Amino acid sequence: MSLRIFHVVILSLYFTANAAAPQPYKADPDCDYNITQLIQSKGYACEEHKVTTNDGYILGVFRIPHGRNTSSIGRPILLQHGLLDAATTWVLNFPDQSLAFILADLGYDVWLGNIRGNRYSRAHVKYDPNHDEAFWDFSWDDMARDDLPSMIYYILNVTKHTQIAYVGHSQGTLIAFAEFGNPNNNLQQNISFYASLAPIAQIGHQKTPLKYLDTDSKELERYWHKLFGRNEFLPASNILKWLGKYACGEFFIDRIMCENMLFIVGGPDRKNLNASRIPVYTSHGPSGTSVKNMIHFMQCGRSNMFQAYKYHTPEENQLHYNQSIAPLYSIRSMKVPTAVIWAGEDWLADPTDVTYVFDNIQSLVYEKYIPNYNHFDFVWAVNANKVIYKDLIDVMQKYHPMK
Ligand SMILES: *[C@@H]1O[C@H](CO)[C@@H](O)[C@H](O)[C@H]1NC(C)=O
Ligand SMILES: *[C@@H]1O[C@H](CO)[C@@H](O)[C@H](O)[C@H]1NC(C)=O
Ligand SMILES: *[C@@H]1O[C@H](CO)[C@@H](O)[C@H](O)[C@H]1NC(C)=O
Ligand SMILES: *[C@@H]1O[C@H](CO)[C@@H](O)[C@H](O)[C@H]1NC(C)=O
Ligand SMILES: *[C@@H]1O[C@H](CO)[C@@H](O)[C@H](O)[C@H]1NC(C)=O
Ligand SMILES: *[C@@H]1O[C@H](CO)[C@@H](O)[C@H](O)[C@H]1NC(C)=O
Repeated sequence: MSLRIFHVVILSLYFTANAAAPQPYKADPDCDYNITQLIQSKGYACEEHKVTTNDGYILGVFRIPHGRNTSSIGRPILLQHGLLDAATTWVLNFPDQSLAFILADLGYDVWLGNIRGNRYSRAHVKYDPNHDEAFWDFSWDDMARDDLPSMIYYILNVTKHTQIAYVGHSQGTLIAFAEFGNPNNNLQQNISFYASLAPIAQIGHQKTPLKYLDTDSKELERYWHKLFGRNEFLPASNILKWLGKYACGEFFIDRIMCENMLFIVGGPDRKNLNASRIPVYTSHGPSGTSVKNMIHFMQCGRSNMFQAYKYHTPEENQLHYNQSIAPLYSIRSMKVPTAVIWAGEDWLADPTDVTYVFDNIQSLVYEKYIPNYNHFDFVWAVNANKVIYKDLIDVMQKYHPMK
């Protein structure tokens, strides 16, 4: 099809879409359900747990202890969502499609983590997220250092197991790479298997339009604070519109997707999703994070380094890190058997950047490349059960059997 005809088709689609009556976007009850209701409505038991980190954040952690037809509880497994997302991400599709449900029906004890600052972890023993800037003074360094081990040790304590399997998506892989390879602690002894979906460590080639909000590295922090403040990352609608144009081109086919920060970061998705469920995905995300966390992602994108948050001056870094430059992370001492699944159309975990993981990982037990998947297909694609989960679960059972 020539470009011109293509434009005409797009234009007519655009006007048809706009001329039509407003879409009944909220019709699906899954749009309004919270995570407990999403899980229970599909026939599963759900427990809510509160995990308090060493620095006082109160994380909402959810548990699907067993499948629909049994009550016996298998080995624990923690599923950890990505950037701007929440634990709901693992239960937004139907039971035979959503990883959390598939694992529960197989006999695993499934735990769903939520990172500080998102909808289910918006609480602190001392700070009020609505009033205290101190609540939002965190980036993924803190999630790796504190949220991740706090959740894992909490689960091991409740379940009386000594090891857990871990599945991370996006930022959920970033914090695992940072912490499982940390030579200063023993956390990795308690991880039997790690599945890395949309692996993130170096992100110098990310394609998100947020890169148009980049600026000289010294000014980056100041510029972002000016645009977005210092608390929760809540971009104004005009910025979303502007970014949405980069995400989808001039002609919006689906505004609710193009102007949703989740898709602006990860890339709009049409090929592999069940299009009728897009309102469900967009009503559960984005979930909150801090401006500081986003700045940290921008810093890593610019430097292409797997590195802690860089403060303005050597003195500030010294204060935080006891050295004048922000420390680098390394995955070379990670010994956890790891499966890496990566995709060709992923804006955040770009294939060029994934080579860093392959070049440094010492404990790879499985890898799969999916050319036509994007960032969210790992969790939401209608065929992810066949394309990813089936083989992944086969490998997982070798290192972390259900019983
Ligand atoms: C979900 O909503 C139900 C009904 O309002 C409520 O009982 C439950 O506590 C909510 N769960 C969470 C995690 O907010
Ligand atoms: C649960 O049991 C019902 C009725 O016996 C059966 O039809 C269904 O396939 C079972 N589901 C699972 C996930 O085992
Ligand atoms: C383990 O759980 C018990 C009972 O809930 C609790 O008293 C104890 O403080 C927990 N230990 C740790 C290390 O979390
Ligand atoms: C972590 O693993 C070590 C080594 O296997 C074990 O001694 C320890 O009890 C485990 N920790 C927990 C909380 O299960
Ligand atoms: C797609 O989503 C709609 C609406 O939730 C649902 O009725 C349909 O069964 C889904 N199709 C597939 C293949 O999951
Ligand atoms: C800070 O770094 C110096 C020099 O590397 C080291 O001797 C000292 O123990 C460190 N202090 C702390 C608190 O880690």
